[in-house]
Amino acid sequence: ADVIAVIPAAGVGRRMGSQVKKQYLTLRGKPILYHTLQVMEECTDITSVVLVVGAGEEEYCQKNILGNSFSKIMAVVPGGDHRQTSVFNGLSILGRGTELVVIHDGARPLIRNREITAVIKGAREIGAAALSVPLKDTVKVIDSHGLVLKTPSRESLRAVQTPQVFKYNIIMEAHQTAKSRGFFATDDCALVEAMGRPVKLVDGSYENIKITTPEDLVLADAFLARRTETCEL
Ligand code: CTP
Ligand code: MG
Repeated sequence: ADVIAVIPAAGVGRRMGSQVKKQYLTLRGKPILYHTLQVMEECTDITSVVLVVGAGEEEYCQKNILGNSFSKIMAVVPGGDHRQTSVFNGLSILGRGTELVVIHDGARPLIRNREITAVIKGAREIGAAALSVPLKDTVKVIDSHGLVLKTPSRESLRAVQTPQVFKYNIIMEAHQTAKSRGFFATDDCALVEAMGRPVKLVDGSYENIKITTPEDLVLADAFLARRTETCEL
């Protein structure tokens, strides 16, 4: 049964603020998106990949980022204004024969094969699963003036990453329902949660950062360098 990765990479990178969109910035000589796609290419659990890029960027991406490096990419489709819209556009081209959908940010190049496998296992059991890590910082809930309202106990909190993996019917229904209700969220699990369905969190790694601000480039470069040294790449 097909396990399809949908890779949203259609964001504008406002918080990075770079001239070139963050997913096209290079790390160790390759674009961030290239690193991400390379992991998908090498992951034997994944049958094929749907890449979502900025509307009008499809050709640029094919020519300058992909080349002939990726045999699993079945389509490059245009994204939308919200991450959720971009993911929806990717989901829209999947066939009913799809067993699982692996949704993974193009901006998370440090994902490892074994982490993808672990989340897939969780989704086969529960229907929906995501990688997550315990928070390091304490989190405060604030009001619109920046005054603290409360401090949730850190033990009850998790920072959620991607991949997030879903049975095909569950993620299709969750996205269609959210769309019809005008409900937007920053991750796909939230749409499944809104349906009252269970979501399993699987332990991930602190290395699987989302490249978001310029500091993250320094961190990612260091992680990749360490992997090269220990012959992991
Ligand atoms: N994404 C997308 N379509 C959007 C917004 C985001 O496909 N309309 C993708 C991004 O390209 C990224 C992932 O979703 O791979 C996570 O989003 P985020 O880190 O927020 O990226 P950006 O939206 O580009 O950054 P920012 O929020 O700082 O503008
Ligand atoms: Mg964003």
